[in-house]
Amino acid sequence: MSKMEVKTSLLDGMIGVGDMVLLEPLTEESFINNLKKRFDHNEIYTYIGSVVISMNPYKNLPIYTPDKVEEYRNRNFYELSPHIYALSDEAYRSLRDQDKDQCILITGESGAGKTEASKLVMSYVAAVCGKGQEVNKVKEQLLQSNPVLEAFGNAKTVRNDNSSRFGKYMDIEFDFKGDPIGGVISNYLLEKSRVVKQPRGERNFHIFYQLLSGASEDTLKKLKLDRDFSKYNYLSLDSATVNGLDDAANFRTVRNAMQIVGFMEDEVQSVLELVAAVLKLGNIEFKPESRTNGFDESRVKDKNDLKEMCELLGIDQSVLERAFSFRTVEARSDKVATTLNVAQAYYARDALAKNLYSRLFSWLVNRINESIKAQTKTRKKVMGVLDIYGFEIFEDNSFEQFIINYCNEKLQQIFIELTLREEQEEYIREGIEWTNIEYFNNAIICDLIENNQNGILAMLDEECLRPGTVTDETFLDKLNTICAEHLHFESRQSKNSKFLTDHTLPHNCFRIQHYAGKVLYRVEGFVDKNNDLLYRDLSQAMYKANHSIMRALFPDGNPAKINLKRPPTAGFQFRASVATLMKNLQTKNPNYIRCIKPNDKKSAHIFTDSLVCHQARYLGLMENVRVRRAGYAFRQPYELCLLRYKMMCKQTWPHWSGPAREGVEVLLSNLAVSPEEYSYGRSKVFIRNPRTLFFLEEKRRSCLEDLATLIQKIYRGWKCRTHFLLLKKSQVVVAAWYRRYAQQKKYQKIKSATLVMQSFIRGWKARKILRELKYQKRCEEAATTIAAFWHGTQARRELKRLKEEARRKHAVAVIWGYWLGLKVRREYRKFFRAHAGRKIYEFTIQRIIQKYFLGLKKTMPSMSPVDKTWPVRSYQFLDGTHKELRRIFHLWRCKKYRSQFTQEKKAIYEEKLQASEIFKDKKALYPSSVSQPFKGDYLEINKNPKYQKLNSMVEEKILLADVVNKINRANGKGAPRLFLLTKNNFVLADQKTGQVKASVPLPDLSSVSVSTQTDGFFALKLKEGTTSAAKGDFLLSSDHLIEIITKLQRTGAAAAGRDHINVDISDEFLVQFKQDKVCVKFIQSGLKNGSSAACKRKNNRLLEVSVPSP
Ligand SMILES: Nc1ncnc2c1ncn2[C@@H]1O[C@H](COP(=O)(O)OP(=O)(O)OP(=O)(O)O)[C@@H](O)[C@H]1O
Ligand SMILES: [Mg+2]
Repeated sequence: MSKMEVKTSLLDGMIGVGDMVLLEPLTEESFINNLKKRFDHNEIYTYIGSVVISMNPYKNLPIYTPDKVEEYRNRNFYELSPHIYALSDEAYRSLRDQDKDQCILITGESGAGKTEASKLVMSYVAAVCGKGQEVNKVKEQLLQSNPVLEAFGNAKTVRNDNSSRFGKYMDIEFDFKGDPIGGVISNYLLEKSRVVKQPRGERNFHIFYQLLSGASEDTLKKLKLDRDFSKYNYLSLDSATVNGLDDAANFRTVRNAMQIVGFMEDEVQSVLELVAAVLKLGNIEFKPESRTNGFDESRVKDKNDLKEMCELLGIDQSVLERAFSFRTVEARSDKVATTLNVAQAYYARDALAKNLYSRLFSWLVNRINESIKAQTKTRKKVMGVLDIYGFEIFEDNSFEQFIINYCNEKLQQIFIELTLREEQEEYIREGIEWTNIEYFNNAIICDLIENNQNGILAMLDEECLRPGTVTDETFLDKLNTICAEHLHFESRQSKNSKFLTDHTLPHNCFRIQHYAGKVLYRVEGFVDKNNDLLYRDLSQAMYKANHSIMRALFPDGNPAKINLKRPPTAGFQFRASVATLMKNLQTKNPNYIRCIKPNDKKSAHIFTDSLVCHQARYLGLMENVRVRRAGYAFRQPYELCLLRYKMMCKQTWPHWSGPAREGVEVLLSNLAVSPEEYSYGRSKVFIRNPRTLFFLEEKRRSCLEDLATLIQKIYRGWKCRTHFLLLKKSQVVVAAWYRRYAQQKKYQKIKSATLVMQSFIRGWKARKILRELKYQKRCEEAATTIAAFWHGTQARRELKRLKEEARRKHAVAVIWGYWLGLKVRREYRKFFRAHAGRKIYEFTIQRIIQKYFLGLKKTMPSMSPVDKTWPVRSYQFLDGTHKELRRIFHLWRCKKYRSQFTQEKKAIYEEKLQASEIFKDKKALYPSSVSQPFKGDYLEINKNPKYQKLNSMVEEKILLADVVNKINRANGKGAPRLFLLTKNNFVLADQKTGQVKASVPLPDLSSVSVSTQTDGFFALKLKEGTTSAAKGDFLLSSDHLIEIITKLQRTGAAAAGRDHINVDISDEFLVQFKQDKVCVKFIQSGLKNGSSAACKRKNNRLLEVSVPSP
């Protein structure tokens, strides 16, 4: 369509009436005629307000082209002629722009076009939403999930060649920009009975036919399959090929789709293996074999199919074979194996096939979900698309139809709730004048089916769980007693009880008057299908299969998780999932597509009035139009309305300070909207015609454009102003800098000129002065020269005279000297020889000593006091001196060494010195203690929280803290105690609790006894008569004996004002325990060093300590 021809209104060139709300006069006849007229002109979509009615055209129409997508994109709902794209666009924009989660509810009977409609919605949304590599991949995966699920979940029925045999609800998830990021598919109860048996004129699920027609020879060989449909019991032959369906091409599409969705090649292979296994399973047949107990036992007739099936799934053939002949019944701890007869074996086989297929289907849905799962955890906007199996009435309706129709009943209920009841109730709630419109509410039918106490599903569950014999007939009996009075329930018996005979009602059937018509259900199979039992032997055999997906399909076969509880029934599960679905749908903004079937012949040109009329009636379309016509097309809370349109009126823009309702009133009156066009409710404003809404939207759009221009204007002004101010500021800065620079330059020039001038003048002046000075100097020099010459002459004369005089004096002195010398020599000649020897000797000795000292200076040893080296003596006669010097030097360097000591170090050495005085050469333990530093506080009492109490009790500074062993007199064993020494006391305390056991003032300590050996035993003896002595002396042992005794002696003596405390060192001493004295004797044991000393009680008076020999 060219640009010029684009329609701008729903009313332009309309065939019939595009929106039923505008239909005049509104009768059922005119309604159907309008639909017919439009259908005849290929206008398959018609609106009732925002609800889209879709007629199945049964032919491809050129109205889904990319051009059409562009035409409907971002256009108002009522702007163009009705189309499913308009609804999709409205839903998508509302989701993207107003952040409202959406759901698209597509209803209609089987073959009305729901699945097609759902695909059209998805493809439209995919076409208009964002683009990009990642987004396109997500879109492709979402769209390609359809062919996969259709191949496995759709089948040809008499009503529809591609009938959905499962319910599907797909949530498409979008990010904040409206780009799709993933999806979640929920599936509802697959009609699995179709796997083993199909009604006349119908087919099994498409995938079986697609696999056999489309797979390559190689694949078929791998799957052990034959292309011939007739070879498989589970495939009905009468409609194996369907007109217009190319199974082989579809198989390629499905494989391609699986690849796009993200299935691995081995996963596809595994899935096909399972499909092939189901076909093989159908071919397994059984024969009876008599047993001695008179019962028949089933046996597999021809084991070839069984073998091939087991090979495909990696099952142990014997296990499966046994599972078809026996059944293990488990009751608490007992296991009983009962035989299966042929009928039971067939039942088991079919149950296995149905379970295998339906679990495979659920696995596929989960696998697809895994692929299309959104990767981000951010908040998502959601558009749900619901496409379920449509309402259906067959010749023979069973449990599956009952479930399908119940689901449709619930959807009709939600439609009624939200469009008819909710809308009318809202008018009343909002106080809008309203005349009630009658409609049929199907809640009563839903209640008949799902009521928890006496609903049909609840009774079926009750019957299934009841002990005793349960058959379909007992179930019907139960229905007859409980539902007989229900207006929508009929059965032969319930009619009989009312004295009505109805021959159209067979004995084993019941009839429900659904919203869409009466359906006769045969009770046969209800109980079995609801129970959905699979013998545990079979599920266990499947669990053990060596196949990549079988274990995941049969978790109930895990022998480690045997669950004796019955699994929930099929009906119960379905009811629960439908309830969750309804709850989910109610949280979203609903968009309705109501699909209608024009004829029963799947023909493109037939419009059967009666059929359409029937559908329009039960769908409640007329009531829908009436409510719509009497009501208002649009409503919005005052706050939101004011927020959206406030820019259209001066009083409300930019802020309205009063209540929102008054704001809206001012706004609408200012816009001169005619008063019939709107009504004010309690919290919302109601707008009657879509036209008015368009008017408001149009006005808003132009206002927004004006506002945008205003914002642009102000922004540009601001931008230019700031730019200008910036330029101006920069110019001032640049100018200032330039002026400064120019002035600097000028100044420099003047300065240098001045300098030149100055220097010239100074030079000239200087030269003048120089000249004068030079002249002056020359004059002075001339005078000096003359004076010098004169002085020179005078001096030389004087010098000559003095020299003459000196020569004479010298001659006199020399003569006098010679004469004197002569005189002395004559006098002293006799002494000279006697003194010369001594002088020479002294001189020589002096030289030797000098050499010795200089040599010693060069070979001095180091300043370390422990350095024992000393240079060798070079002359024997200096031996004494050499030794003395060595002693003096040692004393001197010791003094130097001592002078570096700090006060603490000095104390430590003093202690060490004292220890040496006490123990050196007296106790064998002493040498090993010399190198150990005296640490004093080994326990860090004040840092250890355990001893906090003890620390607070001992107020003085702790000089020593260590763990010692207190020796028990009774057995000679030691018990650990804390030993603390302070300035005035020593304290013994419990090691664990820190509780003080004894505190003895040091003046009470009389002496200390230790052995001469390497042990750590010591006795603290107390002065008799003191209070501390009452408990007796202490016999202790410690690893730090030397340190403890030394410190005790030092501090003890100071505390008691004594010289020292006695330390007795002997191998035998007495210890005064409480009452009596005990002798402690130390002997050398034969043991080698390394083992510790041990104390033993010899008798009442003797403790013997055996000390290892050193
Ligand atoms: N918009 C359409 N354009 C062309 N053909 C359509 C359209 N809608 C439906 N059809 C035709 O009608 C057939 C049945 O439609 P569809 O499978 O969508 O029905 P359904 O309502 O999903 O039925 P069921 O409840 O059995 O699943 C389609 O296979 C297709 O041939
Ligand atoms: Mg369908």
